[in-house]
Amino acid sequence: MIPVILSGGSGTRLWPLSRELYPKQFLPLTGGDLSLLQATVERIAGFPGARAPLVVCNEAHRFLVAEQMRQLELEPEAILLEPVGRNTAPAVALAALSQPDPESVLLVMPADHVIRDIAAFHRALSIGLEQARSGALVTFGVVPQSAHTGYGYIRADRAGASSLVLGASEKNTKHKAQSTKDSSAFPVLSFIEKPDQATAESYLASGDYFWNSGMFLFKASAYLAEMERHAPDILESCRAALKGAQRDRDFLRLDEEAFSNCRSDSIDYAVMERTDRAMVVPLDAGWNDVGSWDSLWEVGERDAQGNVFKGDVVTEGVRNTYIHAQQRLVAAVGLEDLVIVETGDAVLVMDRARTQDVKQIVARLREAG
Ligand code: GDD
Ligand code: MG
Repeated sequence: MIPVILSGGSGTRLWPLSRELYPKQFLPLTGGDLSLLQATVERIAGFPGARAPLVVCNEAHRFLVAEQMRQLELEPEAILLEPVGRNTAPAVALAALSQPDPESVLLVMPADHVIRDIAAFHRALSIGLEQARSGALVTFGVVPQSAHTGYGYIRADRAGASSLVLGASEKNTKHKAQSTKDSSAFPVLSFIEKPDQATAESYLASGDYFWNSGMFLFKASAYLAEMERHAPDILESCRAALKGAQRDRDFLRLDEEAFSNCRSDSIDYAVMERTDRAMVVPLDAGWNDVGSWDSLWEVGERDAQGNVFKGDVVTEGVRNTYIHAQQRLVAAVGLEDLVIVETGDAVLVMDRARTQDVKQIVARLREAG
């Protein structure tokens, strides 16, 4: 099994810490010394049969990736360099096409997630591996906590479980999907990427849907066959980009012109919504997509008042608040449900319920140059 680490995002919602030239996956955001990218690599290193990772990232981040791998004393299989971002469908196609053996199983992992329970994650992987070897495109489903519109939703065919082991451990819960957790793999009835609010709410209420965790497991040949069927133009551009690629130590630099011509699309829209070979393995492992500041509050170690503080922070009467002090002392009095992020050149103060809107601030700053 070859871990394919997708590290192309820019993480704008974690501004002012996450910057274009130093996005969130390279930062130690969740405590400890490891960056999100390093934690991703470490998370899989101990899995039996896991080979060295293949990292797919933007050209601009090559030294960051190489240096972070070196710190782990890890020799990556390769670091594939994209001259421009074309989203995840091409990034995964490049990884699949670069495999000498098309029967190799790829584990696609975003570089910017947190998983607390590694043993549970490995158990889900073992279940998925069996399915992937027999040709399925395996997804990992998380029981949804809210009607989040930034995720993919997966409807599992619970009657079609491949080896259902329910019974004593079955929880008495309203969520039908949850009652099947840890049991097996299920065929996917439908996959809906980023539904609108009303649809997401109906999915949540039905109890039939999982969130797509954004990790995938499949044979290179299985993914390529689905790309050939559903997005042959992307595949062709990726082939051309690899044909003109140049090897430079661990780096594999793609042909810039060929890859620039590639259509941009995500694996979710291009393949997962359309394929009929998808399976879902329930994942109950403390997964979190560290997408915005409120998720850092969620995954952080909260004190008795519900606060998460990083750095030099002094407070009085503050509750359910996330404060990140990078360079200066931050003092706060009488606050609730806020996020405060201090860095050398910017301070962000916002409502914890509106952390998605940092995007708008970043867009305005960009416009202003
Ligand atoms: N190499 C490379 N090139 N990586 C990329 C690119 C690219 O052009 N674009 C995105 N990535 C990386 C990101 O860095 C991230 O690690 C991962 O691919 C997923 O991309 P996101 O842009 O973060 O996707 P998303 O969060 O909107 O949605 C995906 O993840 C959700 C769970 O977190 C989907 O798979 C959803 O269905 C899923 O629920
Ligand atoms: Mg994401």
